[in-house]
Amino acid sequence: MFILMEKYKKYDKLNYYLALFFSGIVYPLVNLLLALVLKRLIDSGIARNVYELKNAIFVCLLVCIFLAAAVFTSELTQNRFVNNFSKKYRMHIFNEIIASDLNEFSNNSTGDFLATMTNTVSTIEEKYIKSFFSIVSNSSLLLFSIIGMFMINWQLSIAVLIVSLVPIIVMSLLGGKMQAKQNLALTQQNAYVSKVKDAFSGFLVIKSFNIEKQISKEFQNGNDKRADSEFSLSELNNISVSISNFSGYLVFLVAYGLGMFMVINGNTSIGGVTAIVQLVNFIVMPLSKLGLEMNNKKAGLAASKTLNQLLEKVHNPVKDNSNYLKLNRFENEIKLTNVSFSYPQHGETGKRVLSHINLQIEKGKKYALVGMSGNGKTTLLKLLMRYYKLTKDGNISIDNVNINNINLSSLYKLINIVQQDVYIFDNSLAYNIMLGKSFTDKELNYAINKAGLRKLVDGNSKGVDLNVGENGKALSGGQKQRISIARALIRKTPILLMDEATSSLDQKNTTAIENAILEIKDLTSIVVTHKLNPNLLQKYDAIIFMKDGTITEEGSYEELMKQKGDLYNLCSLTMTN
Ligand SMILES: Nc1ncnc2c1ncn2[C@@H]1O[C@H](COP(=O)(O)OP(=O)(O)O)[C@@H](O)[C@H]1O
Ligand SMILES: [Mg+2]
Repeated sequence: MFILMEKYKKYDKLNYYLALFFSGIVYPLVNLLLALVLKRLIDSGIARNVYELKNAIFVCLLVCIFLAAAVFTSELTQNRFVNNFSKKYRMHIFNEIIASDLNEFSNNSTGDFLATMTNTVSTIEEKYIKSFFSIVSNSSLLLFSIIGMFMINWQLSIAVLIVSLVPIIVMSLLGGKMQAKQNLALTQQNAYVSKVKDAFSGFLVIKSFNIEKQISKEFQNGNDKRADSEFSLSELNNISVSISNFSGYLVFLVAYGLGMFMVINGNTSIGGVTAIVQLVNFIVMPLSKLGLEMNNKKAGLAASKTLNQLLEKVHNPVKDNSNYLKLNRFENEIKLTNVSFSYPQHGETGKRVLSHINLQIEKGKKYALVGMSGNGKTTLLKLLMRYYKLTKDGNISIDNVNINNINLSSLYKLINIVQQDVYIFDNSLAYNIMLGKSFTDKELNYAINKAGLRKLVDGNSKGVDLNVGENGKALSGGQKQRISIARALIRKTPILLMDEATSSLDQKNTTAIENAILEIKDLTSIVVTHKLNPNLLQKYDAIIFMKDGTITEEGSYEELMKQKGDLYNLCSLTMTN
């Protein structure tokens, strides 16, 4: 019944077993004891035995204290378990998501992940785990109470039990419907969160395209669906609660009514009837609780299913494990042999973005990658970063080692990319450059100077501690790009890829940054550039021209201009503009 709990208990075994012990054994046992002592108390009162009565009152008091202590301890251990589970489980899920492959990650919306880390996990904690303990405690309370009743008077017990079965039957009839509504409610809830997140993240777009009304309508739609699905769930809950309540009252009626007949007939004592009614409490209450908790458990199960589905989607069986080769140095060359590629979502026979690329990148040389947009430049760099894995068409090697066999973190110590759009963390300038690693002030200043951030740093009173705001709110596009260049430079990786990394900068600043990179002696770099400045292009060792996913020309600026081919044409086109 609780397979999942077997998986979850490992997060805090001690408190798990303690909670089971206190809520499943101690608490119901003390409850049973209370009923038996109550019987003794009443019967001794009716028999006018003062000594017995005093004794029974004293024992009753003791049992009450025990009961309170048992409730307290069982809550305490449960809460401790939930607390530890919550810490470790969220950590685990977060790590799984963070460790996921880039492809798998980007195939899902960030909103889904956000919803998983908030709603879905909370549902598991609040519904599944809490209801697990509640079900355990209530079932054993039920069991102990039934045993106690049979000890007192078995005929009356059988009658009471039959009436108590009504809500169980109703619950099992409603169960399937409940599960479906539960799933729907969760899906709508997650869709709602995604929608809200989208609206707030895309606020600027919404404003500048005047689409507030449409977005508002979409929100209303999602919001209504969420609320309605919750309502229809609560309606079903309401029906089941009402039925359990009714049968609860019926049980009392049977217990008192039939019990009193038995007293008249001399089959039982008034104390016996009172004790049975006391125990009936612990049959009625657990039964109605069990009904509710079963539903909660189902909600928790649904949540855990959603979560597992998402994790399965991001889980990459070919994780970057330590069996992969570690490459510590870049000595000679990067070699692309007959590389063809189409994006995985386009399928096996999908459109080829790159075809039959052969290329040799030598250590220490500077390459400019040129071509019209949409011709595969970015894709080529992504393959070098192994954001996508080449499976059968061609291969890419670094110093004769296939990059598919290189341990990813060692690969990223050799090669780094500066992209066009930069993610900036809501933190200081220094943090955004160092990204959690420690560097000396000298290294930090080197990167700041080379990336042209000196003016920004010196121009504000906080210096490198300047907070740049959420996604770099306080920065210009150019400044963000400079930060990402500084990020790459401070790491001193021997290979640097730049993908239109200066697109937000003007000609003068672009020249300054490209020059700075050309000056770094041992650096091997491939720079995708769309600003065709002859003075700059001349400084590159080679220019690689891409068209329709192939390399059409490769050579120095002079050679290619003499050739009057693609580069020549593109240059004259941009000059005349
Ligand atoms: N993530 C992606 N998924 C599917 N197709 C893509 C993706 N990125 C780029 N493409 C397609 O690949 C082709 C080459 O794009 P890209 O490498 O970005 O060119 P460039 O950088 O030269 O402008 C384009 O036709 C583009 O539509
Ligand atoms: Mg591009």
